[in-house]
Amino acid sequence: MTRYMKLFINIKELAGIQREPVLKTGKQMDELNSINDAFLFVEEGKISKYGPMSAMPEDLRNMAGSSVLQAGEVVDATGKMIIPAFCDSHTHLVYAGSREQEFTDKIKGLSYQEIARRGGGILNSAKLLSQTSEESLYRSARGRAMEIMRQGTGAVEIKSGYGLNPQDELKMLRVIARLKETTPLTIKSTFLGAHAFPARYADDHNGYVEEIINEMIPMVAAEGLADYIDAFCEEGFFSVEDTDRIFNAGIKYGLRPKVHANQMGFSGGVQVGIKYGARSVDHLESTGPDEISALKESDTIATILPGATFFLNMQYAPARKLIDEGIPVAMASNYNPGSCPSGSLQFQMALACIAMKLTPAEALNACTINGAFAMDVDDTLGGITPGKQANIILTKEIPSIDFIPYAFTTPFIEKLYIAGKEIL
Ligand code: NIG
Repeated sequence: MTRYMKLFINIKELAGIQREPVLKTGKQMDELNSINDAFLFVEEGKISKYGPMSAMPEDLRNMAGSSVLQAGEVVDATGKMIIPAFCDSHTHLVYAGSREQEFTDKIKGLSYQEIARRGGGILNSAKLLSQTSEESLYRSARGRAMEIMRQGTGAVEIKSGYGLNPQDELKMLRVIARLKETTPLTIKSTFLGAHAFPARYADDHNGYVEEIINEMIPMVAAEGLADYIDAFCEEGFFSVEDTDRIFNAGIKYGLRPKVHANQMGFSGGVQVGIKYGARSVDHLESTGPDEISALKESDTIATILPGATFFLNMQYAPARKLIDEGIPVAMASNYNPGSCPSGSLQFQMALACIAMKLTPAEALNACTINGAFAMDVDDTLGGITPGKQANIILTKEIPSIDFIPYAFTTPFIEKLYIAGKEIL
């Protein structure tokens, strides 16, 4: 039997300790709760004990020097740190083909919306996906899953939304289901049929909304393929009314909303998401007093995706203000071919610090414990808490946690452990 037992000793800094598995708000977001010169004991894949080396219990001390722990089960982390693995709560990492042609078009002056109006963007990805077999889609997505693990991610939410018809939406969701079975990642799946209007419904938006409600949602639910339902609530995409109808239908099938809200403008996406008890409202580049008041009165977490803001060269979401107003903020990569072809949360942390004025601690909490909340895994992941699954990053020898977003292209990960097992 695999024991997944590990004793880490001499850890320079053990950060992200949480006695209570709660999400972070306000000033707590700037607290990392660390122990310097620490030990961490993992049993049966779960965090069991931790503390300062000077207080390491006698039984562990004896274990470290005996044959009770086998080779590789004692890790000397001298000079290295341990932090929780990332929980990336918003991605579209199942897709067929890249879109660097549009990258060039954007450099030459076209906006994201103009590219979409010309049939590019999400419709471009939908066309490629319809020509790609499920097996090939799975293989490319698996490659991206491996890539994000190498970048420190242990849990990820993945959306459909490049199918835009029943058959191809199901194809995407089945690929996500297969990734759940074949990778060590904790994966949450989101049905995003309402990502764009397919060409066949260009003049009949209501027809597509009806197809989502009457055909796709029941099929997705019948196969148990999604945890959440999402919609791109934005001018030129899905209106508040469309989103309202889709969420209303989704929750009847047990799908909790998440929403792409206020990316391009004041779309009303935040409010409609909150109306339906969304777990998270994501993007928020256009956020004003109304959105802030609505968020304050809700249990919905605000999720920022600065990589997309950077890539599309837009104005960043007011994350500093959200945190100062006491609103919990999560951060995700939004890994996708159109607005952020990167799953690196180290890079997102750097953007959050540099462009949004978050501290490194706030940025790390946003993509660990708060990211876990944004995908409903905060009871088992996202922090160094006794009983939680041991999803942890052992860093290389780095001077401090702040070094991670500061030296934003320097690899900082020595090893990723998922449920105490060394993954990469
Ligand atoms: O979150 N905004 C909508 N969806 C993605 C982009 C998808 C794409 O362009 O392929 C996002 O930015």
